Amino acid sequence: MISLNIEKTFGFISKENVFAYEAQVKAAQEALENGTGQGNDFLGWLHLPSSITKEHLADLKATANVLRENCEVVVVAGIGGSYLGARAVIEALSNSFTWLQDKKTAPVILYAGHNIGEDYLFELTEFLKDKKFGVINISKSGTTTETALAFRLLKKQCEDQRGKDMAKKVIVAITDAKKGAARITADNEGYKSFIIPDNVGGRFSVLTPVGLLPIAIAGFDIEKLVAGAVAMEKACGKEVPFADNPAAIYAATRNELYKSGKKIEILVNFNPKLHYVSEWWKQLYGESEGKENKGIFPAAVDFSTDLHSMGQWIQEGERTIYETVISVESTQHKLQVPSDEANLDGLNFLAGKRVDEVNKMAELGTQLAHVDGGVPNIRLVIPALNEETIGGLLYFFEIGCGISGYILGVNPFDQPGVEAYKKNMFALLNKPGYEEESKAIQARL
Ligand code: PA5
Repeated sequence: MISLNIEKTFGFISKENVFAYEAQVKAAQEALENGTGQGNDFLGWLHLPSSITKEHLADLKATANVLRENCEVVVVAGIGGSYLGARAVIEALSNSFTWLQDKKTAPVILYAGHNIGEDYLFELTEFLKDKKFGVINISKSGTTTETALAFRLLKKQCEDQRGKDMAKKVIVAITDAKKGAARITADNEGYKSFIIPDNVGGRFSVLTPVGLLPIAIAGFDIEKLVAGAVAMEKACGKEVPFADNPAAIYAATRNELYKSGKKIEILVNFNPKLHYVSEWWKQLYGESEGKENKGIFPAAVDFSTDLHSMGQWIQEGERTIYETVISVESTQHKLQVPSDEANLDGLNFLAGKRVDEVNKMAELGTQLAHVDGGVPNIRLVIPALNEETIGGLLYFFEIGCGISGYILGVNPFDQPGVEAYKKNMFALLNKPGYEEESKAIQARL
């Protein structure tokens, strides 16, 4: 279970002011529960963990097994909420070097459809040339350009390389129940498909098949992942008193910090496996809160790596930041620093110590230095990296986001701002239906 510690924000904001949010948090929780707030048609994530059935998980696992048995590589085609959750969990739980090893126990998971890089796509298709690969085409709207473009390439390559019949077996669609090109293609081709519920937005969809299927293919226990989320759903429920509810405290603290002038939240980890959890979190909070000219800017760093790059800015730059550190109590493996007779590097004072002891002192030293430098610090501790804790962490951030967005006074469940670039891109590419926009944009160039 997660423990949240906000003690090191108290030199900057007061405990009293954080606890003064209790009524606002309650109102936000009521609005979420009763569906009376903004964006109330997108609240399917709220009790999603506890509503996932054994049958649904069995269906996902059966499909995962088909791909595990028939593929060396599975490409997850999706962007934003349609790939970041799966990638966050898979990278948090995977051995950092498995994909380089010859003996593999699960297909290698690769990603596409999250950029329009020609070199990236060329190199991916080259890499796949001699591989038995499958594809999961993930798109709620079913019309996202980046994903559709990558899928067009991958579908053709899979059919050419593996034959139409095998392609049908190893291509899976995760999309809307009825609408969008991905749904039509899946139905026409007879692909196995899963539905993204109407009332679950992309960035809240990690516990739908969007996240669960790739995670199961990668060999992780989706039952435990969901169980971790269910436990967190309880721990962050509206009946839990404010002081004991980590999501309530997190939402209140970040809003109070924002009010006090801290405009940027930096999510920090001391474990490189959490890099994509931060990427997922950035989308969750950025897309949910950044609107109406408001919202904390979500940034992220991997320490101690980035202490040697961003550390200077964080220690002494403009004092508009605070940090939220995800601290992992226990590592999966043990490794001691060896003793060295010559001791030319002067590291014998560490000989016999675990590498993690050094990391933990880096973490503590950084926390104290940054607090001294004017950076409030929120600390989230999880016991270890495993399916349960990651499932819990994901749900914690989702409910924290819903509460926080309502306190801020925005609709945390829409994303009107992401359409602007698409309109211009389609106009510039002369997409049929964009004739007027094309003329207008050409006149600006
Ligand atoms: O959170 C969101 O809604 C977005 O990030 C979407 O997930 C992303 O734009 C992909 O959309 P789609 O799943 O419709 O392809």
